[in-house]
Amino acid sequence: MKIKKLGVFDSGIGGLSVLNELITLPIPNFVYFADTKNLPYGEKTPEQIKAFTLHAMDFLAQQEQVDAIVLACHTASAVALEYVQAQLPTTPIWGVVDPVVSAAAAATKNQRIGIIGTPATIMSGIHKTKILALNPSIEVFCQACPKLVPLIEEGKQKTSQLEAALWEYLAPLQHAGIDTLIIGCTHYELIKHEIRELAGSELRLISAPEQMVNLFNQHGLLTRPGHIPQINYYATSSPDRFAVNAQKIVVNLFTNQKVTLPLSRSL
Ligand code: DGL
Repeated sequence: MKIKKLGVFDSGIGGLSVLNELITLPIPNFVYFADTKNLPYGEKTPEQIKAFTLHAMDFLAQQEQVDAIVLACHTASAVALEYVQAQLPTTPIWGVVDPVVSAAAAATKNQRIGIIGTPATIMSGIHKTKILALNPSIEVFCQACPKLVPLIEEGKQKTSQLEAALWEYLAPLQHAGIDTLIIGCTHYELIKHEIRELAGSELRLISAPEQMVNLFNQHGLLTRPGHIPQINYYATSSPDRFAVNAQKIVVNLFTNQKVTLPLSRSL
């Protein structure tokens, strides 16, 4: 697989957790598109999510001429992947749902998997359907977490408010006796540490950033230490605020330097 320019898409800063891992692959250029004007996607209807996602795909494919796109958003992957793939048949588009579902089904030992995600993702039921298609004897426990994305976008990562919300969502899954948890929203990757602290060290956490890199590795794109790509960012509103948040998240893993953002542009 040869990709010179990869588009990475999310409603906001959550997909940066995926970008952070993808930049270790030997791809020279990345374009990150944050649809900040329309977030949170998790509260939107399937029709709205499809329309927003298609708009972003059109921009990345036509204006930016990317070779391929990663939907670094579970909500868009759950609701709009097949739709946008059908609309843009010549641009490969990958979602994050299949890789995490396969990893979770392979990881569980007691056949009890939990999933946390946005209301739209949980409503779609896609993770559960796909897990049961792989192994019908697995029990899947789903939990919508409507409070998390707004708190994370507002930068309230380490607050008691976030901890209380997280506990409210994780407690029922723990009572259900899950041994594996799918982090089914890329925004939640930014609070993975807090999830780990509340959930305990025994629980297997399944994350899209790691699984997407595995997927690319399986297609022959092997992680290259020291690789520093060019990254361009677009935000559909409040680009300055997005840039400030993104600076804190996007890190070149090998030099431990924060990657400088080229000017974020408002569309
Ligand atoms: N980061 C997204 C996801 O993975 C979407 C969050 C939102 O906009 O509600 O689902």
